[in-house]
Order: sequence, then structure tokens, then C-alpha cells
Amino acid sequence: MSYSDFGKKFTQSSGIVELMNDLGEALSINPNMLFLGGGNPAQIPAAQALFKAHLQSIVGQQSQIDRLLGNYQSPQGDPSVCDALASYLKRNLGWDVTRKNIAIANGSQSAFFIIANLLAGQRGDQETSIHLPVSPEYVGYADSGLSDNFFSASKPTIELLPNRMFKYHVDFDHLDIPMTAAALCISRPTNPTGNMLSDTEVEHLNALAEARGIPLIIDGAYGLPFPDIRFVPATAIWNNNIIMMLSLSKLGLPGVRGGIVIGNEEFISDFNAANTVISLASGTLGPMLLESMINNNDLDQLSNSVIQPYYQSSSEFIVAEIQREMSDLPVRIHKAEGAIFVWIWLQDLPITSHALYQRCKQRELLVVPGEHFFIGLSDQWSHKYECLRLSHAQPRSAISAGIKILAEEARAAYRDR
Ligand SMILES: Cc1ncc(COP(=O)(O)O)c(C=O)c1O
Repeated sequence: MSYSDFGKKFTQSSGIVELMNDLGEALSINPNMLFLGGGNPAQIPAAQALFKAHLQSIVGQQSQIDRLLGNYQSPQGDPSVCDALASYLKRNLGWDVTRKNIAIANGSQSAFFIIANLLAGQRGDQETSIHLPVSPEYVGYADSGLSDNFFSASKPTIELLPNRMFKYHVDFDHLDIPMTAAALCISRPTNPTGNMLSDTEVEHLNALAEARGIPLIIDGAYGLPFPDIRFVPATAIWNNNIIMMLSLSKLGLPGVRGGIVIGNEEFISDFNAANTVISLASGTLGPMLLESMINNNDLDQLSNSVIQPYYQSSSEFIVAEIQREMSDLPVRIHKAEGAIFVWIWLQDLPITSHALYQRCKQRELLVVPGEHFFIGLSDQWSHKYECLRLSHAQPRSAISAGIKILAEEARAAYRDR
């Protein structure tokens, strides 16, 4: 069969397709794989019990079952869900929002596809881009543009820290936002690095975006405000120039495909029109669970007392394992400030991170090669090929066994140089 340009673009192999194929293989075909790849959240018993209780309360009432199964949602999402979320955001964070600032989507991945393509791409004769102020960024963005050269990006500065740690910062001195940028975009906490851009960095980026008349997209899949997987202080920042994306996935609900967009009223109305053309309506399960958790005051309790402590502890565990098992190697770890990953930098690695990933895969260890995350960066920067993303949303036995294999394979790569 021959395909259109769209068909060719969306069927070519891409980082996110490789990553999700690995995820599928590890979760359903080969359960022996040590799975430090993928972005699947951990299955945390206290969270699972809470979801079960809310699900049972929904299916315990016929009227709720009918609402769950028998109705299309309105284009923006069920108004009572949007109202519950708006009052939650107003009450807890002081955001000046109503239901008109909120849209429900089938996952934040599909929300991003719509947001990004509404803003960037071909505008008449001009090619416009989404600018990523800190590359590396989330690999799932990479192939989402309908046109070429869809992303531009800036290199961060690298701060070297004690104990073989490091941290990326926005390089405001060399940000070079192209005149054709249609939006800035960050994930916060950042996938893949676990970085948490500071409030000052976010405010500075928003000021630069506003001065250009373009929005700042903040992808809050890992929180703020929920699931709030962050280990350093930070404020949830939103205003009419910010398009915020939230997700139910990292709460522990990736199967329900629940995404949320918070933006100014005009943008939300346009987003809803596009989302209706593409999806007709969003699924009902995620929004109903969310509403039930908000109305019973369970959402913050879940984030702050169950999810955040779980990942803070798993993050400290994996960092300690790397520091112990890889102490003879030139490895640095990005300061773990949030999300469910650690990002390691193997300085002067003699093979690419993709080759190291393949060697680990042969030994039934899945990690994610770093080079796919440097979206929009055309510079020849050796650092791009020296990093790996490791998930710590796995049992400790898998983390320990995985780090041992990784250390052996990395050691072999340096030795065979
Ligand atoms: C930063 C980031 N944004 C968006 C997504 C997409 O999440 P979902 O479509 O499950 O809401 C992910 C998933 O891993 C992510 O890591």
C-alpha cells in the first residue's frame, strides 16, 4: 500500500514507537525483562485500593453507570467534572479559572498533538515551530508535528554538583528563541531528566513568551498540581498566557486515558472544536474518577501521602544503587527533583547510548537511550549520545538487578574502546 506524506510521516519508526513497543513487550510478552524503560507508573497498593473504592462507588449506582457508559461527553467534557476541577484549582491554588478554562481530552499525548498543531507548523509561507527552551525534553513530542522542522530547541547550561550529580538550567543568555516560534514548551517536572525548572525560570520564560505574543505550554503530566511527583519546593504557575496540560496517567491510571487542558477561554473553545473533529468526545471513566476523588477530598491526599513519598523513596534508592554499582565509571546523575525517572550521563561513552541500550536489551534489561530526547537540537553535541533514562517505577529487586547489568555493559563499552 502506498501512503500520503502524512501516512509516511506517522508510520516511520520513531523514538516513542520504539519505546512503547518495548513497554508492550516487557509488560505482556516477556515478563522476565527488567523494565527500567517506558513511562508506566508504579502500581502502588494504596492508590490501587483508592481507585477501586471510587470505581465501586460509581458502578454501585445505576444513574452513574448510565453516565459512565451510555452518554457521549460534551465537546469540552462533562460540565460537572470541569466545575469540580475549576473549584479545586481555585480553592487550592488560587487560579482564576472557571469551567470555560478547562477541556477534557483522551490523554495528554493526544491533547499535545492538537495544541501543538493548532499553534505551530505551516502558516501560509512561513514555517513556525514549538520552541523547547531546555533540550532534552519528552520524546513523545518528537514526531507529533504535521509539518517538518516542527521543533526548535536550546541547549541548557550544565551545573556540575557534588557526589557525581549535575543539573540542567535554562540558558537565558543563549536562548535564541526563533522569530518564527509559535509557543514555548516545557514539561515540569521534566521527562526525561527529573528536573524541576524553578519558579523564577518559569516566570522568566512566561515573560519572554508574553513579550513575543506566544503562549507557554507547561506539561504537568507528573504534577503540579497532581500527582505532584516532586522532591523540591515549587509553585504551580498558571495565567491566561499559559496552556497547562495535566494527566491522570501518572496518578496510576494510564489505562483510562485521561488528559486535561487549562488555558484561556478562547483557546479552550478552539481546542474543543479541534478535539471534537478528531475524537468526537472524550472517554468518561477518567473524568468521573477524577470528579469523585476531588469531591471526596482524596486527590491531594493521594498525591501527597501516597504517590509523592513512594517516588521520592524509589528515586533515592535508584540513585544510591547507581552511585554504588557504577562508582568506577565516569557517570553523573541528574539531580532527581521529580517525575519517575533518573537521567544519567556517561561522560565520553565510546559507543552511542542507543548501542548501549541494544546491548542491555540483549541481556533482558530495558532502558531508554538518551539521544531521542534531544528534540529540535541540530548541533553536534556529544552529550546527546552519552545519556540514558532509567525508570524507578519498578520493584526494588528489578532496579538493583537492572543497575548491575547496566554497570557491566557500560564497563565493557569503556573497556573495549
Ligand atoms: C511529559 C509527558 N507528557 C505527556 C505524556 C502523555 O501522557 P498521557 O497521554 O498518558 O496522559 C507523558 C507520558 O509518559 C509524559 O511523560
